[in-house]
Order: sequence, then structure tokens, then C-alpha cells
Amino acid sequence: MEQTIRTLAELETEATRFLNTLVPGERATLVTLSGDLGAGKTAFTKTVAWALGVEESVTSPTFVLEKIYKIEKPDFPFKHLVHIDAYRLEEGAELAALGFDELMKDSSNLILLEWPEKVADILPVPTVKISITVNIDDSRTISYAR
Ligand SMILES: Nc1ncnc2c1ncn2[C@@H]1O[C@H](COP(=O)(O)OP(=O)(O)OP(=O)(O)O)[C@@H](O)[C@H]1O
Ligand SMILES: [Mg+2]
Repeated sequence: MEQTIRTLAELETEATRFLNTLVPGERATLVTLSGDLGAGKTAFTKTVAWALGVEESVTSPTFVLEKIYKIEKPDFPFKHLVHIDAYRLEEGAELAALGFDELMKDSSNLILLEWPEKVADILPVPTVKISITVNIDDSRTISYAR
């Protein structure tokens, strides 16, 4: 599945569509976001948070590494949005130190992880792999693999 996104308004529509495709499994739902620096991984996450009504502002967690937001949307099957940016990590052990295994045990967690390549040595198989590329006209192509 592939979508071309030209504006942030289109990204809002796309993030909403994407969220509606997610169904909780036995463990947390892990969504990885790949793409170059500035491709729009954090922008996608921010838009997902907006669509879920997360009030607290979502900043790039590059310095924080991990942020957990409560989802106050009774009709939505996930209770927490977890945003992890692995850019500054060098190996999976550092992700484990953030309590990642515990987060994965809770099926009501929706985890969005930027830079999965950095922690590929311990990462479980993601539910959805998203990759974002920037086109010559500055639009984005978002590809989904399941
Ligand atoms: N779909 C989009 N349409 C237009 N502008 C976008 C889109 N996605 C991202 N941008 C813009 O591109 C810039 C960088 O985006 P963002 O911080 O999300 O990239 P990133 O992939 O998270 O980068 P990093 O690897 O550094 O974390 C931001 O200023 C953002 O507004
Ligand atoms: Mg980012």
C-alpha cells in the first residue's frame, strides 16, 4: 500500500485512515517508521496523536527517546500511544533499558518507533512497517508493509 501526501491536511486524512485499519493483537501493536532525516516520521506520529485527541504537544523525542501518551478516546481500542525515537541508540540493549519488553506485553499499547534500523538486533516483527520518502516536489510517499 502506498499513498502520496502533498499537504499536512492530506496527512491528517491519511493518519486517520491508517488508525482505522489497526486491530489490537495479543501483544502491543508495533509500527515502525523508516525514512531519511526529515522525511516526516515525527510529523506522521504527531498527526496520529492529533487524530487520537492527544492533547499534550508531541515533540520530537530525539532527546527524550520515549514518550507515552494516554489515549482518551473510548471507541478506540488502544489506551496508550508510545512514541520512541531510536536514532541515538546504538543497539537493541539500549531499547530494552527503556522498558520496551514490558511495553510490548500490553496489547492496549500502540507503539510508533522511528529508526528501527538502530535496534534491529532485538526488535520483534512489527505489525506494520511504514517507510516515508520525500519526492522532488516535496510531497511524501508513505508505504505500508504488513
Ligand atoms: N507530509 C508532509 N508534508 C509536508 N511537510 C512535511 C511532511 N512531513 C514532514 N514535513 C516537514 O518536514 C520536516 C521534518 O519532518 P520530521 O521532523 O517529521 O522528520 P523525521 O523523519 O522525523 O526526521 P528525523 O529522522 O530527524 O527524526 C518538518 O518541518 C515537517 O513539517
Ligand atoms: Mg523524527
